[in-house]
Amino acid sequence: MRRLLSPFIARRILRHFSSHSEVVQEIDRLTVKSRNHLTPELSLHLITPQCPLWHSPGDECPFDDPFWAFYWPGGQALTRFLLDNSSVTKGHSVLDVGSGCAASAIAAVKSGAQHVTANDICPVAAVAINMNAKLNGTKLSISTDNFIGRPCQHWDVILLGDMFYDPKFADIVFEWLKQMSEQGKAIYIGDPGRLSFVSHPATQHLQRVASYELLDDCKQENNGLTQGSVWKFS
Ligand SMILES: C[S@@+](CC[C@H](N)C(=O)[O-])C[C@H]1O[C@@H](n2cnc3c(N)ncnc32)[C@H](O)[C@@H]1O
Repeated sequence: MRRLLSPFIARRILRHFSSHSEVVQEIDRLTVKSRNHLTPELSLHLITPQCPLWHSPGDECPFDDPFWAFYWPGGQALTRFLLDNSSVTKGHSVLDVGSGCAASAIAAVKSGAQHVTANDICPVAAVAINMNAKLNGTKLSISTDNFIGRPCQHWDVILLGDMFYDPKFADIVFEWLKQMSEQGKAIYIGDPGRLSFVSHPATQHLQRVASYELLDDCKQENNGLTQGSVWKFS
């Protein structure tokens, strides 16, 4: 577990950029601070249709797979739920796996969590998480470790926003979540009805605790998805 950016994360980023501050500058230059989502309480550095990069060919993007630059519909639903139900994270130690823009992790801090780790294996996401945490006046820990498949004794609440986009990965994540649930962790998942999620047999262990209609812009950007739901593993 690391606080902010470790030398290891910084070294991985520097393979592509000449300095850490260059990454910060590029994120600032290529994103806008957006509140056009289900949690307007939070301002997030995102690539939106207002950004030239949104309309450019993928090879013009200096970042590999910048998932952190989008606020995924499952993550929006999960974050809305956390902000409206502070008891879920208040006083707890929280791990947000696949944190991306870190909205759910930031919501957990704002809801009074004792400790929050935003976890994403992408080193540029780690920089964006740091920027978004600061933008929203919050402090959290950041880790780029892969915790999936590993014991997680430091945390009692696990969050996953929109992590079920691939059937094989869904198998791996659900197998791990089953073990985490048996160890007594509280697990909350945000998902907009992706096939890999809704068709998975493990969903019989889930209880839907909230559903939200997505904003019109989000519906348009996510072909056909209209709702985001939050599920508790129980
Ligand atoms: C679809 S995005 C969701 C981001 C965010 N939770 C949201 O809802 O806006 C998935 C994120 O998971 C991260 N990721 C993929 N595999 C991971 C793993 N094994 N551990 C941690 N993060 C992972 C990706 O880098 C990406 O940022």
